[in-house]
Amino acid sequence: MRPLISPSVLAADFANLQSEIQMLNSSQADWIHFDVMDGIFVPNISFGFPILEAIKKYAQKELDVHLMIREPERYIQAFQQAGADIITVHYEACTHLHRTIQQIKDTNCKAGVALNPHTPVQSLEDIISDLDVVLIMSVNPGFGGQKFIPHTYRKVEALKNLILTQNSGALIEVDGGVNQSNAAALLRHGADVLVAGNFVFSSPDPLQTIAELKHISF
Ligand code: DX5
Ligand code: ZN
Repeated sequence: MRPLISPSVLAADFANLQSEIQMLNSSQADWIHFDVMDGIFVPNISFGFPILEAIKKYAQKELDVHLMIREPERYIQAFQQAGADIITVHYEACTHLHRTIQQIKDTNCKAGVALNPHTPVQSLEDIISDLDVVLIMSVNPGFGGQKFIPHTYRKVEALKNLILTQNSGALIEVDGGVNQSNAAALLRHGADVLVAGNFVFSSPDPLQTIAELKHISF
């Protein structure tokens, strides 16, 4: 089984977004990862609805929206209308996570939950069977280009076991500092989806870098 690849446009050239999206369309990427930051849940502000709508006009891949915002339940419908196909909210940002997941499903988007590095995968025990995606943060959210946290391997493995014991169909997505030196080990531990920002967009040949991630042997 090949992994799904979700390049993060946080690392793209914002002055040339149209050509960056067209590059991703012609690549072997499966999803396009879109990082929304509110300056409150995380110490940084990125982009929101108008940019997502602009990307939607050109994107031929599923839009994988990662909400690093407090009270995401207030914006689920608006993100679906702006073009999201997958909506992932943070466990740490939701008081009524079960309700928020149902809200996402009501929009017909796939529903995901993201876990910060300090949040144990066991926190998802009572909701895992409702999820399409679990996103394991392998850096502290807020910035691209950070160093991968090796403890992630054990979390991916524990999550894989939880998914198997509960017969859940959730995909395991890993986000933060992913590159050629950790991708194979992540896949061996059970990851299904690799997010990559700087590794793709700072490489001399992003198309080739995406193809290498897609076909990495593990
Ligand atoms: C971090 C974001 C990531 C980021 C990944 O808060 O959630 O998606 O764009 O970028 P790299 O791959 O450069 O760590
Ligand atoms: Zn992300």
